[in-house]
This record gives sequence, structure tokens and C-alpha cells, in this order.
Amino acid sequence: DEPFEGGRHSFRLDKISAYEEENCKKLEASSGGGRTVVIDHPLVRHKLGLLRNKETSSKDFRDLVQEVAGLMVYEVTRHLPLEETEIETPIEKTRVFTLSGKKLAVVPVLRAGLGMVEGILKLVPNAKVGHIGLYRDPKTLKPVDYYCKLPCDISEREIFVVDPMLATGGSAVAAVGHIIERGGKKISLVSLIAAPEGIATFHEAHPDVDIFVAAVDSHLNEHCYIVPGLGDAGDRLFGTK
Ligand code: URA
Repeated sequence: DEPFEGGRHSFRLDKISAYEEENCKKLEASSGGGRTVVIDHPLVRHKLGLLRNKETSSKDFRDLVQEVAGLMVYEVTRHLPLEETEIETPIEKTRVFTLSGKKLAVVPVLRAGLGMVEGILKLVPNAKVGHIGLYRDPKTLKPVDYYCKLPCDISEREIFVVDPMLATGGSAVAAVGHIIERGGKKISLVSLIAAPEGIATFHEAHPDVDIFVAAVDSHLNEHCYIVPGLGDAGDRLFGTK
């Protein structure tokens, strides 16, 4: 199948994984806003397979999360503007392209989002890093931010909110909401694996915010884990299980 791009959605349909293909079609029909871009490069899919394996060690899991996050940057930054400048090669003068100084910010959602930061910074080393931490209020069940520290010029930066698992969408919705309240304007969400439920909830809350994911999985289970997913990303990153 040809990847199809255009309109609000840009899906690369996955022929191997039937639920991904099915979910992409459902999402196209049902969500009302921003694009969901599924990055299905063979290297990403290979490494995601290793991440899903429960036998993968915590150290390998950490390395792989960074690697997949880094590979995703390639697509997430595809639209960045370039400018032409003149330089001299050892042979002669020539014109080359350089990034036109667009300021970036990476904002991991604590704690699992931390696992993606270094991989992203390897590709965009001048990005500033903000942090946002959320907990669920036991009475209201709403996510409350217990920590939020963003670059002071956040309104001038293009912002990548990173959280490996987009499950119910609750924390991603809240994180992006807090960043908008603090002046954030151009925001994308970058996750490794998403559940269709999380994508729908997120697009409904933030219709203008694009989502970049490496895979769209089948569904959430009764404990709100993504199926088949990879388990608890935070526990696997930090060896806390
Ligand atoms: N958070 C995780 O770490 N894993 C899931 O499957 C869902 C939320």
C-alpha cells in the first residue's frame, strides 16, 4: 500500500499488524482534529519489537527508548525551516542549507518521558528542556500538575511534549493544557505507542496538536495498560518493578 498523506491525518498503514491498520482507518473516520502521524520506518519497528519483549533488560530498554525517540525526531522535525548561506568547501564557494534558528523545547512528562530526552537531544542539541509532573487527584480523578518548569521563552519555541505511552490520554491532555496556559503555542506530542482511545481523547481536547507515534496498538485493558503494549514504561526504564 502507498502511504497516504494529507488532510488532517497522515498514516503509514502497517500491513503486518492488522490491528494497526484497522485502528488507523477507524481513527481517520472518528477523530475530529490534528494529525496523527505513525512513524513506521523499519528501524523503528525493529526496535519497537525489542522494546515490547518482556525479556529485554532494563539497560537495553533504556537504550532502545532513546534510539527510537531519536529516530522519530527525523519525522517530527521534517517541517523545520531552512535558510541558505554561503560557505567555502576546501574546493570552492557554495551555498548550503542550515536550520533557520527555530527554537525548540522538549518537555518530558515525568517520569517515563525522561527516557526519551537524551535520544532527542542528540539530534537537536540546542533544544531547551522543560519538565512537567502530574498526579491523579484521588477525589476528582483529574490529573494535577505537581511540577512544571518550562523555558522562560516557551511562547517562542516549538515544543515537543514527550511521553512514551499515550494510554487514556489523560496526562497528555493535562500536560499540553498546562503548557498552553503558560504560553506554549506550537506543540506536538511524541509517544512511542498509543491506544486508539488515547488518540481520540487527545485530539478532542487539543484539536490543533499533532501526535507522532511509532505504533497504534489494539486497546486499553481494564487497568488502562496498552494491549499488547510493552508494560509499564517507567518501571521498565528505571527498573522499579
Ligand atoms: N503507561 C505505561 O507505562 N504503559 C501502559 O501500557 C499504559 C500507560
